[in-house]
Amino acid sequence: MTHSRIASTGSHLPERVMTNAELEQLVDTSDEWIVARTGIRERRIAAPGETSLDLAEKAALAALDRGGFSVSDIDLIVVATCTPEKVFPSTACLLQERLGIHGCAAFDVQAACAGFIYAFGTADSFIRSGMARRALVIGTETMSRVIDWQDRGTCVIFADGAGALVLEASDEPGVLSTHLHADGAYKDLLEVPGWVSGDYDQGYDPAPHMLMKGNEVFKVAVRELGKSVEEALAANDKQRSDVDWLIPHQANIRIINAVAKRLKLPDDRVVKTIERHGNTSAASVPLALDEACRDGRIQRGQLILLEAFGGGFAWGSALAVY
Ligand code: UT7
Repeated sequence: MTHSRIASTGSHLPERVMTNAELEQLVDTSDEWIVARTGIRERRIAAPGETSLDLAEKAALAALDRGGFSVSDIDLIVVATCTPEKVFPSTACLLQERLGIHGCAAFDVQAACAGFIYAFGTADSFIRSGMARRALVIGTETMSRVIDWQDRGTCVIFADGAGALVLEASDEPGVLSTHLHADGAYKDLLEVPGWVSGDYDQGYDPAPHMLMKGNEVFKVAVRELGKSVEEALAANDKQRSDVDWLIPHQANIRIINAVAKRLKLPDDRVVKTIERHGNTSAASVPLALDEACRDGRIQRGQLILLEAFGGGFAWGSALAVY
């Protein structure tokens, strides 16, 4: 039976650092409030003209380089983004062209902040079914482009970045399971309304921006992520104590801590990048994963649990042996 395994990881962050002090100049907020309520001290913001595709390209090249792969080794590209380069072609096709790969399947997955887990699950299914041997799986976002910089409920949280990994066929597992969920009944709690087939004429100027009922999102996120990680463990007959690392979506330090508490995981088994990265939506899990793989925290053979939650609502988890 064919499994998939994480062969290598990579990531890229824009150069520009935006501190909480800068946000104090834009909206009625404070460094103290942002740190206490979100855990964020600074975040990266893409330069003018720097796009999700640019970030994805650098993250992908880093993952290929780290695994010693050449572009010709890749036969599937799945990009998770809710801030794509264009309506179409997909960011995955544009990335394929940048990388000089021709012919393999390439497409985007849109599940907002849960996008990477969806992309990961999709690529895992392709590999397990024999439709691909080696996939580039990427989460890339320029959330700064859909933020209303006058809205203190969102502009203090979201940020830009990209993370990537190479998932390849293996005789040994690898990815043990992915569990994906969504419930469109929550569509109004977190959205970027208006765009192509929506209403251009609703007066969103200059572009559609994010609307979030943060507190309500928070409560559902804690509840569903808690259920989702338990689901991943139960499906694989694993105990909480078997988990070596939790790599959570970096939405809010309080959500991360609530899920870790449910798993009874000590702090030093949870990868946290939110303090420096903010919430990079679909990029946050692969960014955190890459950081902890590169600095040697996550070791081969360890059990890792990934989870994410976002607009839709869409959410999910993945359990894997690294
Ligand atoms: O990644 C995708 C999914 N997204 C998430 O998971 C985000 C989930 N939500 C959150 O992270 C939190 O709800 C926020 C960080 C967005 C907000 O934190 P909160 O503790 O839920 O705050 P709140 O919305 O309940 O507001 C509490 C108070 C309010 O003031 P009053 O009405 O009590 O006087 C807000 O107006 O905090 C106020 N507030 C702020 N104050 C200073 C809201 N935003 C800010 C701010 N600075 N940036």
